Amino acid sequence: MGDETWSAIICGAYDQFAQVIYLYEGTIARLLGDALVVFFGAPVVHEDDPIRATKAALDLINVAKEYAKEISQKYAIDFAVRVCINTGPVVIGPVSSDLRYDFTPVGGVVNLAARIKFAADPMTVLVSDRTYPFISPFFEFVNQGLIEVTDRREPVRIYQVLEPKIMPGSTRGLSGFESPMVGRESELASLLRLCDAVRAGLGRAVLITGEPGMGKTRLIREWKTAMMAKNPDLTSRWVEGHSLSYGQGLAYNLIIDLLHAIIGVPKAAGEPETHTALLSLIEDLSAEADPSAELQEVYPYLGHLLSLKMEDAILEKVHSLDPQTLQTRYLFSLRRLILGISARQPLILILEDLHWADPSSIDLLVKLLPIAASVPILFCLVTRAEQDTPGWKLVTAAREILGDSLTEISLLALSETESRQMVSNLLEVEALPEKTRSLILQKSEGNPFFVEEVIRMLIDRGAIIQENGNWIAGENLAKIEIPDNLQGLLLARIDRLPEDVKHTLLVASVIGRQFPVRVLEQVLQEQVE
Ligand SMILES: Nc1ncnc2c1ncn2[C@@H]1O[C@H](COP(=O)(O)OP(=O)(O)OP(=O)(O)O)[C@@H](O)[C@H]1O
Ligand SMILES: [Mg+2]
Repeated sequence: MGDETWSAIICGAYDQFAQVIYLYEGTIARLLGDALVVFFGAPVVHEDDPIRATKAALDLINVAKEYAKEISQKYAIDFAVRVCINTGPVVIGPVSSDLRYDFTPVGGVVNLAARIKFAADPMTVLVSDRTYPFISPFFEFVNQGLIEVTDRREPVRIYQVLEPKIMPGSTRGLSGFESPMVGRESELASLLRLCDAVRAGLGRAVLITGEPGMGKTRLIREWKTAMMAKNPDLTSRWVEGHSLSYGQGLAYNLIIDLLHAIIGVPKAAGEPETHTALLSLIEDLSAEADPSAELQEVYPYLGHLLSLKMEDAILEKVHSLDPQTLQTRYLFSLRRLILGISARQPLILILEDLHWADPSSIDLLVKLLPIAASVPILFCLVTRAEQDTPGWKLVTAAREILGDSLTEISLLALSETESRQMVSNLLEVEALPEKTRSLILQKSEGNPFFVEEVIRMLIDRGAIIQENGNWIAGENLAKIEIPDNLQGLLLARIDRLPEDVKHTLLVASVIGRQFPVRVLEQVLQEQVE
């Protein structure tokens, strides 16, 4: 192949790959001939970078497969890529003039990723055992066994990533350790009261806020279980829409998720299944609630949102609309659907992780919210208290529009007694040394997620070990680090702070965990001078 053809093929591929990488907010760190070094987590940290990297890798293979067809037709050449992912610390230098990042690999993190590619078949994704624990609940894998790597004393276990799991697990919780929900009784009670109001025909909304890991999602799960137990006849419809952490740039992402939940098929379902489910729900509702042709009018727009294969005439009609009119049509259609359902049974509509929601979904939901004034529907807004996100607009709107019909629940840290209870529940035995117990409590500061992660870390590092059914302190209890799963979460939060606040935090962290404000002031003042 001549140089020109070669670069045309490579550049064409990189153009397409870059779009995938940017969608998940990765960074192209370096181009090395026919290799591409990509970072997730630098310079911008997200709490789920390993998951983003893996999603990007799978998408990238799909893009490459399409591209390979093109290249085969044009040049009669087989085009293929491999993607290898490793996780670890990398030191990044200043941005060089061509906008690529200079980096110094620490402990061979980047090298290892480059080495394991020799074990990869073309058009596959491999991950190392350093990446695997972060992503294992979300994808299907084949364990490829151990491989020897030059420069490494220990062989490395690698896994091939096949596809996302249809029913993904959760990064939360310790497998094998379960605690019933501690505390939160009054919150749960007020949620159940809201269900009663909705069953009595009233429209309501509830806002649940709290820091990451404070137990918003857990509270919802317990609420659902309690509600089902109280009313096994299932007279209310429970529908959940989730926002994705990388979904802010995907138009109507939350609405599309919600719509899948309303028609009752998972997002991973195929087109035919989704299509049938939508049509049968529309038919069902028109027969019962509204015999007019009005519901038929919603099909093109809901179908479009769900990317269904529809007749050309219908698609042309939808595509001819400007974005504003299209949004109005989406709103009208969704409202009809929801009115249809709530005419038959009260509807509980959970909007999860609104801090990640995309702006177009939020605009639409703000306009949908007023129906709570007239029909038995309960909007449940779940979000971290991040006021500069598009999702927070829905919170503001709910406060303005709904007034007294809006209940606010703010989840605060667990009390010391509750945290103690949680630790005992998780580790089951009372024999845990007091020193270990107070260390866990001190490090987790009443955040249930932190409690779990500190325990996970202590077990992983051998700082607590199980012996004859009792948990005892191991040897290295003195050395406590930040748990792996919290590392990203905390860094991502620090990353989002304004520069001056970040600097203050940096200085404060050097002084120590607690300090008189005047010391901080003095140090910062001296720096200015
Ligand atoms: N009151 C509680 N008692 C026992 N375990 C809890 C409690 N609250 C939360 N947990 C556990 O702590 C972990 C974190 O909770 P959860 O995922 O609900 O937090 P969250 O507020 O939804 O966080 P995020 O903002 O990241 O979504 C979960 O494993 C959950 O089961
Ligand atoms: Mg949650």
